[in-house]
Amino acid sequence: MSDTIKVGPIKAISGELAVPGDKSISHRVAILAGLSDGTCRVENFLPSEDCVNTLRAMGQLGVRYEVERGTVDAPLDMKIHGCRGELRVANVNLDCGNSGTGMRLLAGVLAAQKFDSVLTGDESLSSRPMGRIMKPLEEMGAKFEAKGAKPGCAPLHITGSELNSICYEMPMASAQVKSAVLLAGLFAPEKTTVVQPAVTRDHSERLLNAFGVTVTTKDNVISLYGKQRIRSCDVVVPGDISSAAFWIVAAACRPGSKLLITNVGLNPTRTGLIDVLIRMGAHIKDIVLHDEGGEPRGNVEVVGQELHGVEIRPEEVPNIIDEVPILAVAGALAKGKMTIRNASELRVKETDRIETTITNLRAMDAQVEEFEDGMVIQGETKLKGAHLKSFGDHRIAMAFSMAGLLADSGNTLIDDCACVNTSYPGFANHLKEMRKR
Ligand code: S3P
Repeated sequence: MSDTIKVGPIKAISGELAVPGDKSISHRVAILAGLSDGTCRVENFLPSEDCVNTLRAMGQLGVRYEVERGTVDAPLDMKIHGCRGELRVANVNLDCGNSGTGMRLLAGVLAAQKFDSVLTGDESLSSRPMGRIMKPLEEMGAKFEAKGAKPGCAPLHITGSELNSICYEMPMASAQVKSAVLLAGLFAPEKTTVVQPAVTRDHSERLLNAFGVTVTTKDNVISLYGKQRIRSCDVVVPGDISSAAFWIVAAACRPGSKLLITNVGLNPTRTGLIDVLIRMGAHIKDIVLHDEGGEPRGNVEVVGQELHGVEIRPEEVPNIIDEVPILAVAGALAKGKMTIRNASELRVKETDRIETTITNLRAMDAQVEEFEDGMVIQGETKLKGAHLKSFGDHRIAMAFSMAGLLADSGNTLIDDCACVNTSYPGFANHLKEMRKR
């Protein structure tokens, strides 16, 4: 796609759409299928840069896979031949590109191997905090050297070590940290436990169960015993609700819209956006059609309405963390004001999403007050088309593409949008189709 997205206002967001596979699930499938004890058929893998980097890293660590639909650089369906937990030294740096999930989850696995590894990333990933996984993993006996320009940042040099099981009280609500510890715990001798301060996405737990590993969850305490067999298993990845979110929000807040999203993941730790939109007055129905590999999936129907702003509850924040930029756009259009606080985790995403969201909203004439942990957005803005930057952040590029569609007047240009390929290949085509309808 061209690096600049150009959009103008449209009347309604209507029709039917299926978004590409779930990013969080695709990373985890690449890792768990690769570690499993046999051949796993994976369908609807997300062929985005982030997930392909994780899959390629598993390949460099000795896992074989055959692409059956798509290409090696953009696989959709494939067979992954598990290595029975016997990874081998990569002899190259493992490039995680833009992906915090890829780097943090792989670090959990690699800390426990008999060989050393190096994880690298792009400029954004090389400035994101890795201390949050190094701390618990070091408690387990892992050895890291973070050799980045900023302290505690990638490149990560990992000396493979024998790990111990621990009980870790996680200070932040992070599924990536939880998953890194649980994956490392697979190689430790006893019971590894993570206590989370709030519910975070539980794909690791669900997939581990699907791969025959017993994981127990009770009141935010998640445990597994190490040295369990990881059984091969076939996985069909559902569509990514965080990619669907852009269209769901755009349709929900534009009267006259009628949108059907099909075959999308509806795991309750990911659907907070729908709950918030319904509280804002949206007409949305999510229908779980079936549950496969422990992941519920189905359709989402949206009918456009005028919305009103709400206050996001602290416990909702981890569930909507990736959707804040697009929810903020909805807040600028809704009646009243929208309050998003307790969300300082946004400051350490692909960009500082509090800053980048506010910069772009203000450029489109919205009134927003900034806080260290969030923002308050005044509603009923007549958004004006503007020349914006994505800041190299895929979710900022897509959220403000929607803002351009929902603007009252003027075209919106967003520079530097190749980053969209890290999570939503095909976004530009969907945008084009939607504008033709
Ligand atoms: C993810 C967890 C979230 C989310 C990210 C994907 C995952 O990050 O923001 O896009 O796949 O585990 P944190 O766990 O760091 O909050």
